[in-house]
Amino acid sequence: MTAPAFDFDRIIDRRSLPSEKWGRYAGRDVLPLWVADMDFAAPPAVVEALHRRIDHGVFGYTDAWPSLVEAVVEGLQRDHGWTIDPDWLVWLPGVVTGFNLACAIAGKPGDGVLTAAPVYPPFLSAPENTDRVLQRCELVLQEGRWGWDWAALEASVDARSQMLLLCSPHNPVGRVFDEAELRRLADFARQHDLLICSDEIHCGLVLDEDCRHRPIAALDADAAQRTITLMAPSKTWNVPALYCAFAVIPDAGLRRRYRHAMRGIVPHVNVLGMVAAEAAYRYGDPWRQALLAYLRGNRDRVMEAVAAMPGISLARPEATYLAWLDCRELIAEYNIGDVAAFFEAAGVGLSDGRYFGAPGWLRLNFGCPRATLDEALARMAAATGA
Ligand SMILES: Cc1ncc(COP(=O)(O)O)c(C=O)c1O
Repeated sequence: MTAPAFDFDRIIDRRSLPSEKWGRYAGRDVLPLWVADMDFAAPPAVVEALHRRIDHGVFGYTDAWPSLVEAVVEGLQRDHGWTIDPDWLVWLPGVVTGFNLACAIAGKPGDGVLTAAPVYPPFLSAPENTDRVLQRCELVLQEGRWGWDWAALEASVDARSQMLLLCSPHNPVGRVFDEAELRRLADFARQHDLLICSDEIHCGLVLDEDCRHRPIAALDADAAQRTITLMAPSKTWNVPALYCAFAVIPDAGLRRRYRHAMRGIVPHVNVLGMVAAEAAYRYGDPWRQALLAYLRGNRDRVMEAVAAMPGISLARPEATYLAWLDCRELIAEYNIGDVAAFFEAAGVGLSDGRYFGAPGWLRLNFGCPRATLDEALARMAAATGA
């Protein structure tokens, strides 16, 4: 059998429908490479499953059903070698909801939540949303690769600290943390008796063939017992607005506390999201593999184009469809006040690093057809005088 072909080059007009990504620049010639959704249609297997469910016509309250649970359990085993008990699953409408809930059960108001920046902006606000204190340390660039500053991590922990909020693989720096790093983080959590909330939403998007995502909770029994792992089909199979995610919480007591915090606040998961999740985990791997090959090509394009832009640099993302651009030299060179506005004026919409805790940086989403990416990169090159 020949491998099925999926057409990632096809340009699908998103201007004709409401969307955050394209709506921000309605009526302007700005290519949006910002918010983290892709401009590709979801996998055919997902779209077909949704059609079948919609054709039924009745959309009553629905809990996760056995074949959905089975598809997720088998998917985690197949993709990450992680054996989970179905009872560990807690269904959620979103991962952001999931880590805000984790903060809400980490200690008491006034206690601390540790995280490493730069990071996906809701990480920086979740502690405060739940009356906790953000305890932030910085990831560091060492020889062109992002990594942990272990001394800074140790320096940011104190008696208030209750939880480590981890992004793995990491948005925006694109690292796939290796087993040694994850072990060190798990040891750190054990030594300081911290919960771990590990947002692994990007785990299906490992680009480098020699990197492997490892759930931190899969390391050993101690890590499993102290960890809330958050996952979703939304990034990998591009169904974020269908709102379906899940937590994996092996420890029964922690799971009980988590479910208790959800009561009366967190709604049922959208039935269409669950239909999409089952199809994605069960049948979505050929599409995912083709997507990864395409994204690798896009990443190479970005690396090459940015290398030629004066004043901008980036470390090669190992995962995600996000590139984290250091624009500080460009800003200094041209005396730019607002670097996101500078590129918007040139026709490219990027995410402003200041919301990730890193002014002077921009995040570029390369999850789009190559023609769109090439046009955006050409506009950036022209603006920077490359
Ligand atoms: C690390 C990370 N977590 C969570 C989310 C959003 O998750 P959800 O839409 O399920 O709340 C994103 C979206 O970009 C993300 O990058």
